[in-house]
Amino acid sequence: MPRTEIRYRRCRKKDLLPATRLALSAMNDVRRRTGKEIFLRRVNEPSPLIRHIHETDPELLAAAWAGERMVGFGGALVRGRQWYLAWLFVHPRYQDRGVGGRLLRKLWRDGPGMVHSLATMTYNMQAVGLYSRFGMVPEEMIPVMKARPEDVRLPAAPGWKRDLEPTEGDFAWIQRLEKRIRGFAHPEEWDFWRREKGCRIALFRDGRRRVGYGMLDGRDFLAPAGAADPAELTGVVAEMIRLAREEKRKEVLLFCPTRSRDLYRFLIGAGFRNLEMLLFQSDTPYGDFSRYVPATLAFF
Ligand SMILES: CC(C)(COP(=O)(O)OP(=O)(O)OC[C@H]1O[C@@H](n2cnc3c(N)ncnc32)[C@H](O)[C@@H]1OP(=O)(O)O)[C@@H](O)C(=O)NCCC(=O)NCCS
Repeated sequence: MPRTEIRYRRCRKKDLLPATRLALSAMNDVRRRTGKEIFLRRVNEPSPLIRHIHETDPELLAAAWAGERMVGFGGALVRGRQWYLAWLFVHPRYQDRGVGGRLLRKLWRDGPGMVHSLATMTYNMQAVGLYSRFGMVPEEMIPVMKARPEDVRLPAAPGWKRDLEPTEGDFAWIQRLEKRIRGFAHPEEWDFWRREKGCRIALFRDGRRRVGYGMLDGRDFLAPAGAADPAELTGVVAEMIRLAREEKRKEVLLFCPTRSRDLYRFLIGAGFRNLEMLLFQSDTPYGDFSRYVPATLAFF
């Protein structure tokens, strides 16, 4: 085990590239150890998600250093009274010696009514255990699912109007709905997605009534999506898959909370495959997963 003294400090802009590299290699290490395919990606620039949090919550990105080498990286965000852990990664050779726990304590923010949450992989018992020690216990299963849009057996179109250029009023409605669904709105992330290349945002109306919304990102993730009424979530997701098909996307991926029973049953029956199981952990019961498809693991 390396014996160099470990130092901790806030991330500077130039730390974001090594942080992105460390996140990928620590993730691939746990994937390799558990018999999964690794992500083959060359990292030449910082993750846009990490850059975004560096802009919105710069004091909530921290790294651990052994001399000149970054050996740990963590990031969190605070939206309303929600503290959310977006990333925590420790270099495999430095794991199990308290680095992850120290980073977590540095990023932790508390206060009256503060909710603490994150999503992680079910197959990393070390992570599940560490977060549980901080009071964030397993709360909800989130399978990651994938299909080719043209292979999905879609129901008949519900006859809703689809708007691919939502108005400011529509975005304000999405914020209000997400506040009801998730407990906390995250306008900062919507500002980010609206600027990102490759993000398609759709709003659905039945007559004048807004039914729901969805987003397809540049990596073909259908995330997030939400519905005013849980009974309409499956319809919203089906219409987003139709959009992916029209756009000739090669695949569509999503995170389906199993609390959305109808949606999960629909996806499995319609030809989706489960890729892996994620776990949502929280120290407080959180949100209404019956009408929500979460955004990326980092922002949820
Ligand atoms: C998860 C990760 C960040 C933890 O970092 P770390 O520096 O190894 O963690 P620490 O040494 O501070 O703590 C590990 C904790 O896990 C606990 N733990 C280990 N195995 C466990 C198990 N099977 N059950 C319960 N707890 C377990 C240890 O008891 C320890 O807690 P303690 O210090 O309170 O006793 C690191 O292992 C990692 O980067 N893993 C790969 C990537 C990953 O999965 N990241 C999480 C993505 S959200």
